Amino acid sequence: MKVAVIGVGHVGLVTAATLAHFGHDVVGLDEDPAKIDTLQQGRAPFYEPGLQDLLDEVLGSGKLRFTREAAEAIEGADCAFICVGTPARADGEANLLAVENAARSVARNATGDIVVIQKSTVPVSTADRLHSIFAKATTHRIRLVSSPEFLREGAAVQDSLKPDRILVGSDDPEAHALMRKLYEPVLGGDCRYFEVDIHTAELAKHACNAFLALKISFANALARVCEASGADVVSVADIMGSDHRIGRDFLNAGLGYGGYCFPKDLLAFKAVAGRLGYDFGLLEEVMKINRGALDATVQKIKDALWNVESKKVLLLGLSFKPGTDDVRESPALNLARALTDLGAEVVGCDPQANEFAVREMPGLQVVEDPYKGAEGAHCIVVCTEWPEFADLDFVRLKGIVTLPMIVDGRNLLNEKDVVEAGFSYLPTGRPPANL
Ligand SMILES: NC(=O)c1ccc[n+]([C@@H]2O[C@H](COP(=O)([O-])OP(=O)(O)OC[C@H]3O[C@@H](n4cnc5c(N)ncnc54)[C@H](O)[C@@H]3O)[C@@H](O)[C@H]2O)c1
Repeated sequence: MKVAVIGVGHVGLVTAATLAHFGHDVVGLDEDPAKIDTLQQGRAPFYEPGLQDLLDEVLGSGKLRFTREAAEAIEGADCAFICVGTPARADGEANLLAVENAARSVARNATGDIVVIQKSTVPVSTADRLHSIFAKATTHRIRLVSSPEFLREGAAVQDSLKPDRILVGSDDPEAHALMRKLYEPVLGGDCRYFEVDIHTAELAKHACNAFLALKISFANALARVCEASGADVVSVADIMGSDHRIGRDFLNAGLGYGGYCFPKDLLAFKAVAGRLGYDFGLLEEVMKINRGALDATVQKIKDALWNVESKKVLLLGLSFKPGTDDVRESPALNLARALTDLGAEVVGCDPQANEFAVREMPGLQVVEDPYKGAEGAHCIVVCTEWPEFADLDFVRLKGIVTLPMIVDGRNLLNEKDVVEAGFSYLPTGRPPANL
C-alpha cells in the first residue's frame, strides 16, 4: 500500500519506519527542513533504542523516503497518517492548528480517494471538524479514521513492531477494511485490535493518559504521607501492585510525570470535558499533586543544604524518562530552573539528552561524565532513572564531592551502596538514611 506520514517526529517517524518494515511504500513528510535533511542523510533526528537500525533497513530497501513537498508525499497515496504535534494553548485547550493544516494539505493534494488516519492525540469531536474540512475542500472521497498512538518513548520501536493493541475508530466500513489490511502483519497473536466509532477512539486516548497520570499522582500523594509517618512508599506500592486489579506499573513515587503527552493531554482532557458540561475536577487534583511532587523535592534539597545559594547541585538525568533524549516538560529541567532561581549552581548529566537540555534551557551547565559533574558538589539528585546511574561507583563519588548528600527523586539507588560509601541518602516516600 502507498502510505504518506505527515509529521515525522517521535510518533510519525517510528510509524513510518514500522509501516515500511511491514512492506508498505511510505513517504514521510515534515515541514521542519533540518529534520528532513537529517533523515535524507539516513540519520534519526532523536535517540530512540533500535530506531537507527530500523531506519537503515527500510531506507536500504527503498520502502521509506522523506520529503518536504506535500504533493510528493500525498499524490497517489492510499492513506495518509497525521502525526503532527498538538501542544497546549495557554488556556489548556489543545492547539490543533497543525492538525488542521495537515488535513487541509491532504485535501489539497489528494489525487484520488484516500483514507486519512488521525494519529495525533486530539480532544473528542475533532473528527467532526476534519469531516467538514474534507467535505468543503475536495471532491475526492476522504474517509476518516482516528487511530491514537500508544507507543512509549524509550520503547517506541518495540511497541510499534509488536503492539499490544491497535485502536481504530471510524464510521466507515471501507476505512476499517483498509486499516485491517495495513496492519495485517501484526494481527493475530498477542495484539488486541479494537474497532470502534471515531469519538470513542479519540476519547479513549485521553482516558488512558489521564488514568496513567492519576496512578503516578496517587503514588506521589502516598509518598508524602509515607514520609510524614515513616512508612515506605515502595513497599506500599509493591503490596498494592500485587493485587491484579491495581497493577504495579505507574505506581512509582518521585519527581512526578512529565514529557510531551501527560501534561498537555490532562489539560486538554479537562478542557474538553468542561466544554461538554462536565467539571473533571479529579484531573485538576492529579495535576496539583504532580506540581507538589516537584515542590516537595525542592524543599527536601533546601532542607538538606540549608542555604542553597552558591551550592553546587548535580542532577543525574535530564530527559523526562530513561531511554529517550526527549526533554519536553522534563521534571529534571523544571527542578534545574527552580534550583537556579534559588541561586544554586546546577550541573546536569544525562547519557543522551544533554544537547536537547541545553537547547531547552540555554546556559545550563552539562557534563558527559558524572564523576566530573560531582567534583565539589554539595548535593547529587537522581532525576531520571537511567539504569547506569544505579551502577555508579559511590565510593569514588564520595571522594570527589564537597558534601556527601544524595536526594533520590526516582528511588533508583540501592540504599546500602550509597550509605556504605558514606553518603546521606534521602529517597522519595521512604525513610532517609545516614543523616
Ligand atoms: N511522543 C509520544 O510518546 C507520543 C505517544 C503517543 C501519542 N503522541 C501524540 O502524537 C502527536 C505527535 O507527537 P510527537 O511526540 O511525535 O511530536 P513531535 O513534535 O516529535 O513531531 C511532530 C512533527 O510534526 C511536524 N509538523 C507539524 N506540522 C506539520 C505540517 N503541517 N506538515 C508537516 N509536518 C508538520 C513537526 O515539524 C514535527 O517534526 C501528538 O499529538 C502527541 O500527543 C505522542
